Amino acid sequence: MLELPKPRTQGPMSLELCLERRRSIREFSPRPLNLEELSQLLWAGQGITHRMGYRTAPSAGALYPIELFVCAWEVDRLTQGIYWYHPNGHRIEYYAQVPARKDLARAALDQDSVRLAPAVIVVAAVYSRTTKKYGERGIRYVHMEAGHVAQNIYLQATALHLGTVAIGAFYDNQLKKLLSFRQEEPLYLLPVGRP
Ligand SMILES: Cc1cc2nc3c(=O)[nH]c(=O)nc-3n(C[C@H](O)[C@H](O)[C@H](O)COP(=O)(O)O)c2cc1C
Repeated sequence: MLELPKPRTQGPMSLELCLERRRSIREFSPRPLNLEELSQLLWAGQGITHRMGYRTAPSAGALYPIELFVCAWEVDRLTQGIYWYHPNGHRIEYYAQVPARKDLARAALDQDSVRLAPAVIVVAAVYSRTTKKYGERGIRYVHMEAGHVAQNIYLQATALHLGTVAIGAFYDNQLKKLLSFRQEEPLYLLPVGRP
């Protein structure tokens, strides 16, 4: 378990400017990310911001079906691997061996953005957390939540002068196998890097 650097809640770029500048970025420099940046991106996606456990992104019934994982190839001070984000304590846990970038890219229809990024954040869902309360309708809620999380990460990336793109085109089964997922369903890949 690795405690991430404390996220900051103030920065030089206004929310309005982040909204205006947010763009999908698909080409990245090979320069690594640093832990502060990774910490900030994960916090933006799912960080806890209230003593009751509420988070940066809204969640139907506060059931939090979204899990974030990071495929880290080039992150300073981080051994390559797949890491699982624990909002509680703002920590990451080594989860599994990271696949080769070209293999992950292949599962995503050979998209170059996946092959070039120093890290890829995976937005995954455990549907049952939400469907056990809301039934079929819970599926819709989980997808909405993935959108909230991804948008937060987009805006945070913009504020940090990083780039990302929300990728929905991939082969579910290939990806799940590469990521060693069991109950989690991958919904988005977010390659992140320096534009
Ligand atoms: C549900 C969804 C799936 C997407 N899938 C992909 C994808 O597989 N590959 C990709 O390069 N961009 C993907 N995008 C990003 C869109 O192409 C992008 O948002 C659009 O071109 C508008 O550009 P902008 O994000 O810079 O405003 C996806 C966006 C959404 C919302």
